[in-house]
Amino acid sequence: MKELSFLSLLLPLLFLSTAQGLEPKCESQDQDSNLKVYHVYSHCSPFKPSKQLSWEESVLEMAKKDEARLQYLTSLVAGKSVVPIASGRQIIQSPTYIVRAKIGTPPQTLLMAMDTSNDVAWIPCSGCVGCGSTLFDNVMSTSYKSLGCQSPQCNQVPNPTCPAGICSFNLTYGGSSIAANLSQDTIALATDSVPGYTFGCIQKTAGNSVPPQGLLGLSRGPLSLLAQTDNLYKSTFSYCLPSFKSPNFSGSLRLGPVAQPIRIKYTSLLKNPRRSSLYYVNLVGIRVGRRILDIPPSAFAFNATTGAGTIFDSGTVFTRLVEPAYTALRDQFRKRVGANATVSSLGGFDTCYNVPIVSPTITFMFSGMNMTLVPDNFLIHSTAGSTTCLAMAAAPDNVNSVLNVIASMQQQNHRILFDVPNSRLGVAREVCT
Ligand SMILES: *[C@@H]1O[C@H](CO)[C@@H](O)[C@H](O)[C@H]1NC(C)=O
Ligand SMILES: *[C@@H]1O[C@H](CO)[C@@H](O)[C@H](O)[C@H]1NC(C)=O
Ligand SMILES: *[C@@H]1O[C@H](CO)[C@@H](O)[C@H](O)[C@H]1NC(C)=O
Ligand SMILES: *[C@@H]1O[C@H](CO)[C@@H](O)[C@H](O)[C@H]1NC(C)=O
Ligand SMILES: *[C@@H]1O[C@H](CO)[C@@H](O)[C@H](O)[C@H]1NC(C)=O
Ligand SMILES: *[C@@H]1O[C@H](CO)[C@@H](O)[C@H](O)[C@H]1NC(C)=O
Repeated sequence: MKELSFLSLLLPLLFLSTAQGLEPKCESQDQDSNLKVYHVYSHCSPFKPSKQLSWEESVLEMAKKDEARLQYLTSLVAGKSVVPIASGRQIIQSPTYIVRAKIGTPPQTLLMAMDTSNDVAWIPCSGCVGCGSTLFDNVMSTSYKSLGCQSPQCNQVPNPTCPAGICSFNLTYGGSSIAANLSQDTIALATDSVPGYTFGCIQKTAGNSVPPQGLLGLSRGPLSLLAQTDNLYKSTFSYCLPSFKSPNFSGSLRLGPVAQPIRIKYTSLLKNPRRSSLYYVNLVGIRVGRRILDIPPSAFAFNATTGAGTIFDSGTVFTRLVEPAYTALRDQFRKRVGANATVSSLGGFDTCYNVPIVSPTITFMFSGMNMTLVPDNFLIHSTAGSTTCLAMAAAPDNVNSVLNVIASMQQQNHRILFDVPNSRLGVAREVCT
């Protein structure tokens, strides 16, 4: 079977094709509270690249994007729940997965980026200067309204201004600036309808890091989808992220406590006041094969003062571990692969081989739950199959970023359940379909 290299698919947004809906062969209705999740470069996605880079170029590109993502995650600090902006810093982001949402009355379909580490929802609105070609035509929606500065929601927005009494705000996101009105309309997710959903209606944007059809934040700040749909979804959701290698590339986002898996292992979900939107867990150890690595507990320690700890994130592609943890993992991995295989590096990855290797398993040990990864969750292969890299890296060496990030590649083909009311996160192996 010819293996499709996912890295050759993960290309910069510069090469986006111009089509704006899902490919016709992928059109199907989302059922119940289940939304299909597509990788942004899946063959169903209109955002897939129209031109391929070499595998090596793609690796470098991905490594660069993850660096920016980590900067974003570490920049999240208390008191900036809507828009974490590190002043003047350029943070480029590109959430990796999209879902279909319907906005307005009658409903208009948009493919929005899903991001578990972001609170906001934004939608590009009609008349937007600098947005892509698919806009929400708010003029056509009978249920649309913009919120005034007196609305309580306007307090959640950074530095609102009130032209004509409308709650308007500017923010920067990645290298982009955004001007938006705080607005409300009905949003439909699968077959559920949420009236009066509050979002930023984008009026103007400059730069290219804004997801073209909007952003659906799934973290837990006051304006997030979870906070706004608590009576419907009880702050509970799960997803299964499809493998990049699967030709069909679709997973699912299941909203609400109904139909969540029963056979699933849990670890505690923690909230860190320093970065209150993020989903923290307690990583206590790492195993390579059957060997538990010797890692100082400080590498994993949850710290409410500094924001240190371990998070699950859907927007980072490759897991990052703080230096001593990564080094221990890498060294043991290399030892198990064998001294005869020469190690080379590629971009951010320092453990690559140009010969076929026999890989051990890797287990993340969380309090109360072990998550054992199969090689597909941590090895990437070049298109021709001649190069294999361990797809994890050390977290940036920066006092502000003592953060371990369990990233999307390592979560693929698992159901990850976020059960906020019971403060627990569940993991079960599942082949995403
Ligand atoms: C956004 O607010 C401006 C005033 O700042 C107003 O002119 C414009 O019509 C509003 N647009 C939408 C889509 O609400
Ligand atoms: C927001 O941006 C718009 C357009 O770029 C500009 O006219 C306006 O003055 C800005 N408002 C604030 C509060 O910076
Ligand atoms: C992809 O989906 C199509 C129909 O949607 C199905 O016929 C085909 O078997 C799927 N391919 C794989 C590899 O799952
Ligand atoms: C958190 O980090 C700070 C600063 O490094 C340290 O002083 C404090 O003891 C840590 N707290 C815990 C609970 O480890
Ligand atoms: C390494 O390769 C050499 C030559 O092929 C072989 O003699 C030796 O046994 C190998 N060592 C290991 C540890 O596999
Ligand atoms: C996880 O694995 C370790 C080491 O193999 C074992 O001691 C521990 O009991 C396991 N934890 C759970 C919750 O299964």
